[in-house]
Amino acid sequence: MCKGNRPGQISASLMCAGIKDLVSNIHIMEEEHVEYLHVDVMDGEFVPNLGFGMDYIDGVREMTSIPLDMHLMIMRPEDKLEWMKLRPQDRVIIHYESTIHVQRTLVRAKSYGCKVMLAINPGTPIYSVEEVLDYIDGINVLTVNPGFAGQKIVRSCIPKVDKLENYLREAGYSDLEIQVDGNISFDNAKMFKEMGADIYVAGSTSIFNGDDLRENIQKYRAAIAG
Ligand code: DX5
Ligand code: ZN
Repeated sequence: MCKGNRPGQISASLMCAGIKDLVSNIHIMEEEHVEYLHVDVMDGEFVPNLGFGMDYIDGVREMTSIPLDMHLMIMRPEDKLEWMKLRPQDRVIIHYESTIHVQRTLVRAKSYGCKVMLAINPGTPIYSVEEVLDYIDGINVLTVNPGFAGQKIVRSCIPKVDKLENYLREAGYSDLEIQVDGNISFDNAKMFKEMGADIYVAGSTSIFNGDDLRENIQKYRAAIAG
């Protein structure tokens, strides 16, 4: 399908979902057919924050069948993939900047049978993906410096999505999915939909903003509809 016409997918950021109402929120997301739960795994080294260890992740897996979208904000992910218990329905997001052997790491991640995404930080050029297009299912364009929810979009990231979509299409890789992650508000989601984004990390400035999760999901769904 051409630019911007593939139906958008929601990856709900558990970092923004809170703990108090997690069970009821997950039930609402199941009923609203949210495609993924976005799990920000953080080691305090790759990003200045800690988040979502394996006990939490195992607990979420016991609560729901919604696939996980595991955003590995960790150094040397190749040494830790076996901890993640990746499943074929899950996605794993490996940062280009997090390992000196990115191609080998992507191949190792793919061996678990899940979808593999390459993430690029705001300062990383889109052409960094050139040598590994055959080893990934898509690219996560970080639109904030990763590690925290509630940040404002880095404005220089906005054109990256359009540039990346054009680059992938001209290179014959338009089947690769584009994910956006960081301050993907209702308005920013609409903007990135126009540019051809496919997967939207929905967090504090969209579905978890305010009290009505169900209504927010429906509003977000309309913003990213094909
Ligand atoms: C980046 C994180 C955040 C989070 C979403 O480190 O991945 O993008 O999931 O948070 P908001 O929507 O508040 O940017
Ligand atoms: Zn993330």
